[in-house]
Amino acid sequence: VHLRRLVRACSRPVDDAEADDVAACEAVRAWLLADQTPVGDVFEAQGGGLTTTVAAEAAIASSPPEKAVVLYRLVRHLQPRVVVELGGALGLSGCYLATALQRNGRGRLVSVEGSPSRAAVAAQAVSSVAPGVSEHRVSLFDDALGALDGADLLFNDGNHFAEAVLRYGDEARRRMARPALVVVDDIRDYSPEMTLAWDQLRRSGQSAEIGSLGLLRLT
Ligand SMILES: C[S@@+](CC[C@H](N)C(=O)[O-])C[C@H]1O[C@@H](n2cnc3c(N)ncnc32)[C@H](O)[C@@H]1O
Repeated sequence: VHLRRLVRACSRPVDDAEADDVAACEAVRAWLLADQTPVGDVFEAQGGGLTTTVAAEAAIASSPPEKAVVLYRLVRHLQPRVVVELGGALGLSGCYLATALQRNGRGRLVSVEGSPSRAAVAAQAVSSVAPGVSEHRVSLFDDALGALDGADLLFNDGNHFAEAVLRYGDEARRRMARPALVVVDDIRDYSPEMTLAWDQLRRSGQSAEIGSLGLLRLT
Protein backbone atom coordinates (compact mmCIF):
# COMPACT_ATOMS: atom_id res chain seq x y z
CA VAL A 1 0.00 0.00 0.00
CA HIS A 2 1.48 3.35 -1.03
CA LEU A 3 1.56 5.82 1.86
CA ARG A 4 -0.08 8.60 -0.11
CA ARG A 5 -3.03 6.35 -0.97
CA LEU A 6 -3.19 5.20 2.64
CA VAL A 7 -3.35 8.79 3.91
CA ARG A 8 -6.16 9.56 1.46
CA ALA A 9 -8.09 6.45 2.52
CA CYS A 10 -7.73 7.43 6.19
CA SER A 11 -8.83 11.05 5.75
CA ARG A 12 -12.54 10.96 4.93
CA PRO A 13 -15.81 10.97 6.88
CA VAL A 14 -16.95 7.80 8.66
CA ASP A 15 -19.01 5.71 6.24
CA ASP A 16 -21.91 3.32 6.85
CA ALA A 17 -19.67 0.26 6.91
CA GLU A 18 -17.63 1.74 9.76
CA ALA A 19 -20.45 3.37 11.73
CA ASP A 20 -21.35 0.40 13.97
CA ASP A 21 -17.74 -0.20 15.03
CA VAL A 22 -17.18 3.50 15.71
CA ALA A 23 -20.41 3.65 17.74
CA ALA A 24 -19.36 0.62 19.82
CA CYS A 25 -15.97 2.21 20.61
CA GLU A 26 -17.53 5.57 21.41
CA ALA A 27 -19.98 3.85 23.79
CA VAL A 28 -16.88 2.63 25.66
CA ARG A 29 -15.57 6.20 25.78
CA ALA A 30 -18.90 7.30 27.29
CA TRP A 31 -18.67 4.79 30.16
CA LEU A 32 -15.00 5.63 30.76
CA LEU A 33 -15.89 9.33 30.98
CA ALA A 34 -18.51 8.51 33.65
CA ASP A 35 -16.31 6.17 35.73
CA GLN A 36 -14.93 7.76 38.92
CA THR A 37 -12.79 4.73 39.86
CA PRO A 38 -9.27 5.76 40.94
CA VAL A 39 -6.37 4.69 38.71
CA GLY A 40 -2.63 5.23 38.81
CA ASP A 41 -0.14 6.54 36.30
CA VAL A 42 3.07 5.16 34.85
CA PHE A 43 4.69 5.27 38.34
CA GLU A 44 1.96 3.17 39.97
CA ALA A 45 3.90 -0.10 39.86
CA GLN A 46 6.86 1.61 41.56
CA GLY A 47 4.66 2.68 44.49
CA GLY A 48 3.10 5.80 43.01
CA GLY A 49 -0.41 4.86 44.14
CA LEU A 50 -3.70 5.81 42.53
CA THR A 51 -3.37 9.41 41.42
CA THR A 52 -6.34 10.13 39.18
CA THR A 53 -9.66 8.68 38.00
CA VAL A 54 -10.74 6.80 34.91
CA ALA A 55 -13.01 9.71 33.96
CA ALA A 56 -10.30 12.37 34.31
CA GLU A 57 -7.77 10.34 32.32
CA ALA A 58 -10.28 9.42 29.62
CA ALA A 59 -10.92 13.12 29.14
CA ILE A 60 -7.27 14.08 28.64
CA ALA A 61 -5.30 11.03 27.53
CA SER A 62 -7.56 8.87 25.36
CA SER A 63 -7.31 9.37 21.59
CA PRO A 64 -10.16 11.58 20.34
CA PRO A 65 -12.57 10.01 17.81
CA GLU A 66 -10.96 11.50 14.69
CA LYS A 67 -7.53 10.12 15.62
CA ALA A 68 -8.90 6.77 16.76
CA VAL A 69 -10.77 6.35 13.46
CA VAL A 70 -7.47 6.80 11.60
CA LEU A 71 -5.98 3.96 13.68
CA TYR A 72 -9.00 1.80 12.85
CA ARG A 73 -8.56 2.47 9.14
CA LEU A 74 -4.83 1.81 9.15
CA VAL A 75 -5.57 -1.63 10.55
CA ARG A 76 -8.40 -2.21 8.08
CA HIS A 77 -6.22 -1.24 5.10
CA LEU A 78 -2.95 -2.87 6.13
CA GLN A 79 -4.42 -6.10 7.56
CA PRO A 80 -1.60 -6.56 10.08
CA ARG A 81 -1.07 -9.83 11.90
CA VAL A 82 0.41 -8.29 15.04
CA VAL A 83 -0.27 -4.75 16.24
CA VAL A 84 1.74 -3.44 19.19
CA GLU A 85 0.57 -0.45 21.16
CA LEU A 86 3.00 1.29 23.52
CA GLY A 87 0.70 3.25 25.85
CA GLY A 88 -2.54 1.33 26.24
CA ALA A 89 -3.89 3.65 28.96
CA LEU A 90 -7.63 2.92 29.43
CA GLY A 91 -8.04 1.06 26.16
CA LEU A 92 -9.72 3.61 23.93
CA SER A 93 -7.25 3.40 21.05
CA GLY A 94 -7.09 -0.32 21.80
CA CYS A 95 -10.85 -0.58 21.22
CA TYR A 96 -10.46 0.88 17.74
CA LEU A 97 -7.38 -1.19 16.87
CA ALA A 98 -8.93 -4.43 18.14
CA THR A 99 -12.31 -3.79 16.54
CA ALA A 100 -10.57 -3.30 13.19
CA LEU A 101 -8.61 -6.54 13.68
CA GLN A 102 -11.84 -8.33 14.55
CA ARG A 103 -13.44 -6.91 11.40
CA ASN A 104 -10.40 -8.11 9.39
CA GLY A 105 -10.99 -11.60 10.76
CA ARG A 106 -7.34 -12.02 11.73
CA GLY A 107 -4.56 -10.45 13.74
CA ARG A 108 -4.01 -9.62 17.39
CA LEU A 109 -3.20 -6.60 19.50
CA VAL A 110 -0.49 -6.51 22.15
CA SER A 111 -1.09 -3.45 24.29
CA VAL A 112 1.63 -2.36 26.75
CA GLU A 113 0.87 -0.12 29.71
CA GLY A 114 2.95 0.68 32.81
CA SER A 115 0.01 1.28 35.14
CA PRO A 116 -1.61 -1.97 36.36
CA SER A 117 -4.93 -0.28 37.20
CA ARG A 118 -5.15 1.36 33.77
CA ALA A 119 -4.26 -1.89 32.03
CA ALA A 120 -7.05 -3.67 33.92
CA VAL A 121 -9.59 -1.09 32.75
CA ALA A 122 -8.21 -1.37 29.20
CA ALA A 123 -8.47 -5.16 29.16
CA GLN A 124 -12.13 -4.93 30.13
CA ALA A 125 -12.84 -2.10 27.69
CA VAL A 126 -11.22 -3.77 24.69
CA SER A 127 -12.69 -7.19 25.33
CA SER A 128 -16.16 -5.62 25.58
CA VAL A 129 -15.96 -4.63 21.89
CA ALA A 130 -13.51 -7.22 20.52
CA PRO A 131 -13.27 -10.27 22.77
CA GLY A 132 -10.21 -12.49 22.40
CA VAL A 133 -8.28 -10.15 20.13
CA SER A 134 -6.00 -8.35 22.59
CA GLU A 135 -3.37 -9.08 25.18
CA HIS A 136 -2.63 -6.45 27.85
CA ARG A 137 0.91 -6.42 29.21
CA VAL A 138 1.63 -4.47 32.37
CA SER A 139 5.18 -3.35 31.82
CA LEU A 140 7.44 -0.42 31.23
CA PHE A 141 7.97 -0.12 27.48
CA ASP A 142 11.71 -0.73 27.78
CA ASP A 143 11.00 -4.16 29.27
CA ALA A 144 8.42 -5.11 26.64
CA LEU A 145 10.21 -4.36 23.38
CA GLY A 146 10.33 -8.08 22.58
CA ALA A 147 6.65 -7.65 21.66
CA LEU A 148 7.88 -5.93 18.51
CA ASP A 149 9.50 -9.10 17.18
CA GLY A 150 7.69 -9.91 13.94
CA ALA A 151 4.97 -7.27 14.52
CA ASP A 152 3.79 -5.34 11.49
CA LEU A 153 2.17 -2.27 13.04
CA LEU A 154 3.38 -0.22 16.01
CA PHE A 155 1.36 2.56 17.62
CA ASN A 156 3.73 4.52 19.85
CA ASP A 157 1.62 6.65 22.18
CA GLY A 158 3.35 6.78 25.53
CA ASN A 159 6.86 8.01 26.16
CA HIS A 160 7.20 11.52 24.74
CA PHE A 161 10.94 11.93 25.23
CA ALA A 162 12.99 12.19 22.04
CA GLU A 163 15.52 9.63 23.19
CA ALA A 164 12.77 7.03 23.69
CA VAL A 165 10.94 7.81 20.44
CA LEU A 166 14.17 7.39 18.48
CA ARG A 167 15.27 4.30 20.36
CA TYR A 168 11.88 2.62 19.88
CA GLY A 169 12.20 3.54 16.21
CA ASP A 170 15.56 1.71 16.10
CA GLU A 171 14.07 -1.27 17.91
CA ALA A 172 11.16 -1.31 15.49
CA ARG A 173 13.56 -1.34 12.54
CA ARG A 174 15.53 -4.17 14.12
CA ARG A 175 12.60 -6.30 15.24
CA MET A 176 9.50 -5.75 13.14
CA ALA A 177 8.36 -7.71 10.08
CA ARG A 178 8.60 -6.21 6.59
CA PRO A 179 6.74 -4.30 5.42
CA ALA A 180 5.79 -2.64 8.69
CA LEU A 181 4.25 0.64 9.75
CA VAL A 182 5.36 2.69 12.75
CA VAL A 183 2.78 5.23 13.92
CA VAL A 184 3.94 7.92 16.34
CA ASP A 185 1.44 10.17 18.09
CA ASP A 186 1.86 13.82 19.07
CA ILE A 187 4.47 14.68 16.45
CA ARG A 188 3.23 18.26 16.05
CA ASP A 189 1.95 20.78 18.59
CA TYR A 190 2.96 18.65 21.58
CA SER A 191 6.55 19.70 22.29
CA PRO A 192 9.54 20.91 20.25
CA GLU A 193 11.30 17.74 21.46
CA MET A 194 8.64 15.45 19.93
CA THR A 195 8.68 17.34 16.63
CA LEU A 196 12.49 17.17 16.45
CA ALA A 197 12.41 13.45 17.24
CA TRP A 198 9.85 12.83 14.50
CA ASP A 199 11.81 14.94 12.01
CA GLN A 200 14.82 12.74 12.66
CA LEU A 201 12.88 9.46 12.70
CA ARG A 202 11.02 10.13 9.49
CA ARG A 203 14.30 10.40 7.54
CA SER A 204 14.79 6.66 7.99
CA GLY A 205 11.98 5.61 5.64
CA GLN A 206 8.97 6.66 3.63
CA SER A 207 6.83 8.88 5.84
CA ALA A 208 3.54 10.74 5.95
CA GLU A 209 1.47 12.64 8.47
CA ILE A 210 -2.22 12.56 9.35
CA GLY A 211 -3.02 15.25 11.91
CA SER A 212 -0.88 14.57 14.97
CA LEU A 213 0.07 11.07 13.76
CA GLY A 214 3.37 10.39 12.02
CA LEU A 215 3.50 7.33 9.76
CA LEU A 216 6.82 5.68 8.97
CA ARG A 217 6.89 2.79 6.57
CA LEU A 218 9.62 0.21 7.08
CA THR A 219 10.50 -1.85 4.02
C1 LIG B 1 -1.43 9.14 26.05
S1 LIG B 1 -1.69 7.73 27.03
C2 LIG B 1 -2.17 6.52 25.84
C3 LIG B 1 -3.57 6.73 25.31
C4 LIG B 1 -4.12 5.58 24.54
N1 LIG B 1 -3.21 5.16 23.47
C5 LIG B 1 -5.46 5.93 23.96
O1 LIG B 1 -5.49 6.66 22.96
O2 LIG B 1 -6.48 5.48 24.49
C6 LIG B 1 -0.05 7.21 27.42
C7 LIG B 1 0.03 6.01 28.38
O3 LIG B 1 1.36 5.50 28.33
C8 LIG B 1 1.75 5.08 29.63
N2 LIG B 1 3.23 5.18 29.65
C9 LIG B 1 3.97 6.30 29.44
N3 LIG B 1 5.29 6.01 29.47
C10 LIG B 1 5.38 4.68 29.71
C11 LIG B 1 6.48 3.77 29.83
N4 LIG B 1 7.74 4.19 29.72
N5 LIG B 1 6.21 2.46 30.07
C12 LIG B 1 4.91 2.04 30.19
N6 LIG B 1 3.82 2.85 30.07
C13 LIG B 1 4.05 4.14 29.84
C14 LIG B 1 1.05 6.02 30.58
O4 LIG B 1 0.85 5.40 31.84
C15 LIG B 1 -0.26 6.33 29.84
O5 LIG B 1 -1.31 5.53 30.30
